[in-house]
Amino acid sequence: MADAVSPSVAAGFTPAPRSRPLSQKVAQIPPSGIRKFFDLLASMEDVISLGVGEPDFVTPWHIREAGIYSLEKGRTSYTSNYGILDLRLELARHLEHHYAIDYDPRAELLITVGVSEAMDVALRAILNPGDEVIVPEPTYVSYVPCTVLAGGTPVPVPTRMEDDFRLGPADVASRITPRTKAIILGYPNNPTGAVMDRERLEEIARLAEAHDLLVVSDEIYDRLVYGVEHTCFAALPGMLDRTILLGGLSKAYAMTGWRIGYAAAPADIMEAMVKIHQYTIMCAPTDSQYAALEALKEGEEAVLEMLEEYDRRRRFIVRGLNEIGLECFEPRGAFYAFPSVRSTGLSSEEFAQRLLVEEKVAVVPGNAFGDCGEGHVRCCYATSMENIERALERIGRFVGRVKG
Ligand SMILES: Cc1ncc(COP(=O)(O)O)c(C=O)c1O
Repeated sequence: MADAVSPSVAAGFTPAPRSRPLSQKVAQIPPSGIRKFFDLLASMEDVISLGVGEPDFVTPWHIREAGIYSLEKGRTSYTSNYGILDLRLELARHLEHHYAIDYDPRAELLITVGVSEAMDVALRAILNPGDEVIVPEPTYVSYVPCTVLAGGTPVPVPTRMEDDFRLGPADVASRITPRTKAIILGYPNNPTGAVMDRERLEEIARLAEAHDLLVVSDEIYDRLVYGVEHTCFAALPGMLDRTILLGGLSKAYAMTGWRIGYAAAPADIMEAMVKIHQYTIMCAPTDSQYAALEALKEGEEAVLEMLEEYDRRRRFIVRGLNEIGLECFEPRGAFYAFPSVRSTGLSSEEFAQRLLVEEKVAVVPGNAFGDCGEGHVRCCYATSMENIERALERIGRFVGRVKG
């Protein structure tokens, strides 16, 4: 009810003063650069959204059925903190099958509430105050806040379109100091769609070895690559022992709402991670874990079908954006295109804001992903071909008008 009185006011409480001291760590985190933008979007109708980064597909039916069946069977209790053993066994097989890496499902695998939780727990388990963490930019929005909340200091390393947004080992090397504790990798990348080649990853592995660093590798898009092979960082020689591998089912299996991810790490690191997980989360949702088990066992065909469709859309949107005059390098992973909007003379935010208001197309300004995202916008192509076609038409009209 719009005019309802809040319970505290009704009970005669005075609202707290606004200046009350809260966590200094939280105060350090900048507010989300895109919140205002999404508030505006929510108030509009008939918007074509290339904004939100999640599959437009519904979770395949057999996976949903496994979740429903789990409820029907009355599995409504907590599971092991680590997650159900059958799921960890299946995950160990999955990682062995795809990357020939060997994890002990009883001590080295943890089922989490998405990669979101896994990243938070991983960083809190390894960082001490003042430890520096190298974060490639443009970066997925959670890496910097999670580092700060864990007491670390993020050290950004820019990547560039001219280099296909791949991370340069020399750029990493130049940021390493005696305080560096870890490198976060996020490839295939959100927001750029960049994929790292094996040679560069091997060079980064050598740096990790030489400076005794840990690597937190967010590989949530590992299955969504187009015409190239994904290299799992933990599978590189010598890296199993210094990598925390994060992955999940949200993207490839269209399961964002089920909230299932995982972490794979050496037993000593995992023990520390489980301590945090058990007190804050207890366990991932039980029915979702059973759905995830079905996904890993029987979901391959559906993954490949969705992958083919994303690829078709990827080629279409990249060609379309380039034809409009928004230069776009070819993304080889995830489901994002990251065109430059510099030719329009507008900043990322001006472009996104005006495109939304004038043509009702939502894209995300590139600076939401760090300073070096300025001059770009993120377009998520996990939406129907029809939407992409209509969005391109509107973007073309907008760019034509802006360029005059
Ligand atoms: C790179 C990256 N990591 C992690 C996440 C969070 O995923 P999850 O649904 O597993 O929490 C996302 C979601 O957009 C992402 O793009």
